Amino acid sequence: MPFDLPGRAVHWFPSIDSTMTVAAQLAREGCPSGTVVVADQQTAGMGRHGRSWHSEPGVGLYVSLVLRLELGSEAIPLVMLALGIGTQQAIAEVSGLAPDLRWPNDVLIHEKKCAGILANAEGDAIIAGIGINVSHAGFPPDLAPLATSLRLAGAPEVSREELLAALVRSIDDTCRILVQQGPAVICEMFTHASSYARGRRVRVELDDGVIEGVTRGLTPSGFLVIRQDNGTETVILAGGVRPV
Ligand code: BTN
Repeated sequence: MPFDLPGRAVHWFPSIDSTMTVAAQLAREGCPSGTVVVADQQTAGMGRHGRSWHSEPGVGLYVSLVLRLELGSEAIPLVMLALGIGTQQAIAEVSGLAPDLRWPNDVLIHEKKCAGILANAEGDAIIAGIGINVSHAGFPPDLAPLATSLRLAGAPEVSREELLAALVRSIDDTCRILVQQGPAVICEMFTHASSYARGRRVRVELDDGVIEGVTRGLTPSGFLVIRQDNGTETVILAGGVRPV
């Protein structure tokens, strides 16, 4: 689909395996920061933790951005937060909905996921992958209890082009805040924007088991702190957070 964003390259494909692989290839070839790869359909959409991302044709925004941010790869958890806030803001602006954020980067409406985010290092670049469920009328039975779309959540018709333009703008803004104002500002913004960041009772699925407790905010590096009932505070580096 022909689509322009001033000052940046947009590669829009009718169908590809994953925007992540194409964006990574462009990054290896030295494309400029901000390069956008979009697909109407992905045949092998990637989710976090090796899962797949449901990429039904024509109803979602499936996009990867090549980011060269002058931050080391240790900043990826903070970049994930910046991407989450940017995605939340873009959805709110274009749909009028008020999405929540669940650490590290699920975007939720009424506790169901309407968008997910990935961030992978590729040389000195970060490949940011964002999938937004825009106008799905339903989901396969395994996803239906967990997933929603902007349409199912009650938004009036949302143009994917308009959403992409808002997304690119707001991610530019939040990444600029991270680089120029530092991690503390992004952590603070995330904490304000997420009902999960503080005082929420959750269960966290870790590689080696499950812990339950109450969220206690973020560390300066962007990790989630959980206080268990025995008083132990645990820093969650990676894991699936669910409400209890
Ligand atoms: C998650 O599991 O929550 C992350 C999902 C990320 C999906 C997006 S869709 C565009 C980009 N291309 C992919 O293959 N994955 C990301």
